[in-house]
Amino acid sequence: MINSFSHKHLLDIERLSAADVTSIIELAGMYASQNRSDNKKSAQLAGKIVVNLFFENSTRTRTSFDIAAKRLGADVVNVPVEVSSVKKGETLLDTALTIDAMQVDAFVIRHSEAGLPEYISKHVKGSVLNAGDGTHAHPTQALLDAMTLLQCKGNLKGLNIAICGDIEHSRVARSNISLLNKFGAKVRIIAPRQFMPGDLSKLGVEAFDSMESGLVGMDAVMMLRIQHERLTSGEFSMSAEKYHKQYGLDHEKLGIAKPDAIVLHPCPINRGVEISSALADDANRCVIWKQIENGVAVRMACLDLLLR
Ligand code: CP
Repeated sequence: MINSFSHKHLLDIERLSAADVTSIIELAGMYASQNRSDNKKSAQLAGKIVVNLFFENSTRTRTSFDIAAKRLGADVVNVPVEVSSVKKGETLLDTALTIDAMQVDAFVIRHSEAGLPEYISKHVKGSVLNAGDGTHAHPTQALLDAMTLLQCKGNLKGLNIAICGDIEHSRVARSNISLLNKFGAKVRIIAPRQFMPGDLSKLGVEAFDSMESGLVGMDAVMMLRIQHERLTSGEFSMSAEKYHKQYGLDHEKLGIAKPDAIVLHPCPINRGVEISSALADDANRCVIWKQIENGVAVRMACLDLLLR
């Protein structure tokens, strides 16, 4: 039974209630089954147009939003921003208003500036879905991670989960912390000093600076890559080898967590840096392929609930 869903935009996790999150994940569960059947396509969003506006690189989010919209019968326009008139000096708002004037139904926006999707949402008629904005939020990633945790662990309440690595620059960490706190999970972050978030006291998490102490008793471990694109020069100078030794996860360090602990990663992974290649490829412990599959179903649910 899906509760009423009254949002026009999906900008962050904070604006969603626990009931909204549950509605999205329940509907995504239905779509996940449909996506494994012979009849993957439906017509819920026939006649709607979804526009992908990605100003930052993406493989998973962009492709899965594209597939999600098409599976629901919508038409998708991927705006090639590299060859768009943004390069001739047009502002992002003018670009969005231009596309909005073509009577489209939704914008899926990724941008390096925190708050950009919300700013656009205040000016366009279509729905805006945040596909990642700077270090602020990546709501559909947190939703697909929660769906994966529920599939593997059954419940979020009381679940012990460690989020490890470059927390300071991670929108994935912020959206996950917000969602997991809403559902009563016990969240730890493990990071070197340079990657501890400046807003740590507001996050409602326990903080550790070593994997050896932070991983004890964990049901799930979420690894993050170092977000070099957001680092200023000289901000972090540890070699990849040293980082892997101290903060990378391999089977040996995972042994500190509970025996049935699972490993999540939003990807892209950097093998041999934040995660060992052997662990990344161990489908008994590492659930990245489940996360990616759930990404399509969650984005179908979000588009369906926002646009229908
Ligand atoms: N998880 C994630 O956002 O991946 P992409 O950058 O490939 O979209």
